[in-house]
Amino acid sequence: MTTTSSAVSPSTLRREVSRRRSFAIISHPDAGKTTLTEKFLLYGGALQLAGSVTARKNQRATTSDWMELEKQRGISVSSTVLQFEYRDCVVNLLDTPGHKDFSEDTYRVLTAVDAAVMVVDAGKGIESQTRKLFEVCRRRGVPIFTFMNKLDRPARPPLDLLDELENVLGIHACPLNWPLGDGPRFKGVYDRMNREVHLFERTAHGAYRAPVSVAGIGDDQVRDALDEAVWRQVRDELELLEGAGADFDAGQVLAGALTPVFFGSAANNFGVQLLLDRFLDLAPPPLARRDRSGAGIDPASEEFSAFVFKIQANMNPKHRDRVAFIRIVSGRFERDMNVVNTRSRERMRLGNSQRLFARERETVDDAFAGDVVGLVGNHDLLIGDTLAIRPEVAFDEIPRFAPECFAWLHNRSTAKYKRFRDGLQQLLKEGVAGEFQLIDGGTSSVPLLGAVGPLQFEVLQHRLEGEYGAETRMENADWSIARWLRPSQGDPSAPDARPSLSLGTAFARDAHGWLVALLPSEWALKTFTDKNEDWIISEEPFPPRPADG
Ligand code: G4P
Repeated sequence: MTTTSSAVSPSTLRREVSRRRSFAIISHPDAGKTTLTEKFLLYGGALQLAGSVTARKNQRATTSDWMELEKQRGISVSSTVLQFEYRDCVVNLLDTPGHKDFSEDTYRVLTAVDAAVMVVDAGKGIESQTRKLFEVCRRRGVPIFTFMNKLDRPARPPLDLLDELENVLGIHACPLNWPLGDGPRFKGVYDRMNREVHLFERTAHGAYRAPVSVAGIGDDQVRDALDEAVWRQVRDELELLEGAGADFDAGQVLAGALTPVFFGSAANNFGVQLLLDRFLDLAPPPLARRDRSGAGIDPASEEFSAFVFKIQANMNPKHRDRVAFIRIVSGRFERDMNVVNTRSRERMRLGNSQRLFARERETVDDAFAGDVVGLVGNHDLLIGDTLAIRPEVAFDEIPRFAPECFAWLHNRSTAKYKRFRDGLQQLLKEGVAGEFQLIDGGTSSVPLLGAVGPLQFEVLQHRLEGEYGAETRMENADWSIARWLRPSQGDPSAPDARPSLSLGTAFARDAHGWLVALLPSEWALKTFTDKNEDWIISEEPFPPRPADG
């Protein structure tokens, strides 16, 4: 039970929860997610200076290079959770990895947010990764805010960009501000809600908050600032929007059916504050979530509940420890509180709780629904686990994905076998890849691994070497499809029950003991499916069994 001495009143709890805003920024790599994150932090006072090229590079070195690989490849592999206060809100910003092979990790992060900001490079429009991430948000009904970035560069016509949102992503778009030109002729944005113009002045790489002056659209100052042609075009576009305009409906935004659109330039810190202010006005606080039984869990309920959405080891090479990130679904977290891991039924004390700002760590004494807390230590926690006061609560928030590439991982040095095995076990727990045990595969001790994308293997190898000193070699396997199997009748865990095998197919057991078919092609899958109509053949991996630890 929680310590009662420092209990907060129900009204304080409700107020604390209602001022939380937890969100992620999603984008195709290079659209400007990192830059926008830095600018948000500037407004939250978490960074004194953001934006100058050198400050940015240094900042980057301290905010997101948990792994050497990030530096070498120039990609963001790990996810950061940043918290700052702005106005009366407590903002939790969850950074998501950008590379496509890390989609699994990104998907998990998106289960922990209540809204998303989608950054689009206005010169390029919707790109592949944006589309995929958008789909995940939409499936979860997460409200999405769109930031059309890089207006200081030549951009696609704003009406085309809106069309693309509607036609390619299939979401209604409502521009809350409108760009005044683009590229060298970019002069600011018109705020349609307040009927104000914010003029853009170029500062040295946006090192300081961009000066903003406000006047009406017909104002001489605006006409003087814009080329005549740009001014006419903007006036016509605005008229068109007003004419076409259905009223802005905040309810549609919350339902994920309408995306408010903002234009600006993150690098120049232009339009960022407008976005942040409107976002905080319109984005939802933590809402009730359903648990596995369908019961709604009120975030302001006094009973604490949370789920693990990410596990990462060795974030700090000096500590070599393991952090499980939990998203609080309801109630208040207090350090040293006792909870139940509702999968294993084990009781645990949440002692070493931390907030992480890249390598900086700070002990968390209390936190509320909507917040993310890092639990440091060697708990037997798995991704997807629920921690709660009541043992009956279990969340099913984490999507599971079938791997699409398979490989054997050879240990290069017998002398370092223990390191190899320990490291691999830890990284598998983090969900970097999955291990499969071939049935009838002889007694080979070489682990067979599966991952959604090949870069996951690269990260695994890199981390095994860097963090555990184990050198490895990958040997690709020919399968590209995995299907989880269960007889439609009878005991699903009967050890001998097997469907009929087709050419090139093998059976394996996953880490939880479920039977899996590994197949080389869509064609093999079709034959296999036709032959085994009395089997449940699932594309989605089955969940861990209650006793797994
Ligand atoms: P990501 O996290 O989405 O991958 O993108 P990131 O913020 O790293 O930005 C990718 C590149 O786009 C960076 O340039 C960044 O400076 C630039 N960028 C971001 N916002 C804007 C903008 O509003 N206008 C312009 N013109 N560029 C922008 P880089 O050359 O890769 O890095 P750097 O040398 O600028 O740090």
